Amino acid sequence: MKYYIRTFGCQMNVNDSEKMAGILKTLGYEPAQDWKEADVILVNTCSVREKPDQKVLSALGEFKKIKKDKPNAIIGVCGCLAQRAGYEILQKAPFIDMVFGTTNIHHLPQLLEEAKSGNKAVEILEEIDENENLLDQFPTVRENKYTAFVTVIRGCDKKCTYCIVPTTRGKERSRRIGDILREVQFLVEDGVKEIHLIGQNVTAYGKDLGDVKFWELLQAVASVPGVERIRFTTGHPRDLDEDTIKVMADLPQVCEALHLPIQAGSDKVLQAMDRGYTQKEYLQKIDLLKKYIPDIALSTDIIVGFPGETYEDYLETVKVIKEVEYDQVFAFKYSPRPGTPAADIPMTESPETISKWLNDLINIQKDITFKKNLSYEGKTVEVLIEEVNEEGKLTGRTRTNKLVHVDGPQEYVGYIVNVKIEKVNRFSLEGRINGGD
Ligand code: 5AD
Ligand code: SF4
Repeated sequence: MKYYIRTFGCQMNVNDSEKMAGILKTLGYEPAQDWKEADVILVNTCSVREKPDQKVLSALGEFKKIKKDKPNAIIGVCGCLAQRAGYEILQKAPFIDMVFGTTNIHHLPQLLEEAKSGNKAVEILEEIDENENLLDQFPTVRENKYTAFVTVIRGCDKKCTYCIVPTTRGKERSRRIGDILREVQFLVEDGVKEIHLIGQNVTAYGKDLGDVKFWELLQAVASVPGVERIRFTTGHPRDLDEDTIKVMADLPQVCEALHLPIQAGSDKVLQAMDRGYTQKEYLQKIDLLKKYIPDIALSTDIIVGFPGETYEDYLETVKVIKEVEYDQVFAFKYSPRPGTPAADIPMTESPETISKWLNDLINIQKDITFKKNLSYEGKTVEVLIEEVNEEGKLTGRTRTNKLVHVDGPQEYVGYIVNVKIEKVNRFSLEGRINGGD
């Protein structure tokens, strides 16, 4: 029996899919190379913008064909779109056998049994399943052997007016430090070197547990022998305090990289988004980060064309990206999400104008990213070698999350090596192992 999982969306979804693969493995399933060979197909969906919604429906249209050759194959839909609009999907795609939400993934074995017996297995909970943490006990099936996601907090208590996540993922629930450490320990024993702590809002970790701070979690994870690198995503600028930044700087395991979404540069737009900070306050956090961690690589998310955003507002965003000099920017056109507060506000700019603003911003950032990459030329950096790529080159990432290709023996896979950077491309760096040392 074989399974195939198609994942859309963020790292939380990727980690959920890894867990689902773990559940299926414990049930005796093997991964299928191609969906056409699968007995169970799962589509883990995202609902953050309209585009992923559409991609899910077209993927389902493709997977439907499996029923011709394999009438007993099960097609399941889960994740954020299923949580938000599972019944609607079922109506649009009645060939689906299984639909479940974001907090009851651990019910997959029972749902699968139900679907196999010929019934529609549908479980979309309004309330958060109180046993959702059972999911964490399953092993993950990961593509990457040496770096692993660990979910530390689920949900989000922020009320950003454009965002569907509080609806699809519920309120903030932190996992207990002991449980997280057990998972980290297990991963390290499995050969993992880099732990990537994830959550919709990781910097809010611990608020719901009493007096536990996010930086205490960082210290605890760093104290697990064998953890060589720690990353975390995504932090909300409001919850990132100086204590956390100091701990980041002090712990050698915490990588010099941070994704800190700003969303917009204009105070008026930030307020309309209910982000809880001004441009100045955000930039103060960036200054602190650069002060304590001078080599830090920063990245951000930006939404262009929020209702009411004028050209002058947009220029504030451009000003910020030029000033901060992010290593990477993920920019999106605003997409109204049904049920969010901003969905009722009429759009003020035409789609053509918003597309132009977005393209211009992406082009400005391309040059900044390249300039940042160029600063690596001649430097020697630590690279965690993750695999041998199709061209036979060792491939890995720097602590600042830059992709590096280098010649070397296959035995280096899974190790951190020093690489002297000799060539800089737009999206990657190339170099020589131990060069110059
Ligand atoms: N429209 C466009 N982008 C959005 N994001 C979240 N909601 C929307 C929306 N309605 C973006 C934000 C967030 C990233 C994951 O997706 O920039 O940080
Ligand atoms: Fe998409 Fe947000 Fe859900 Fe992640 S949490 S899958 S980004 S809607």
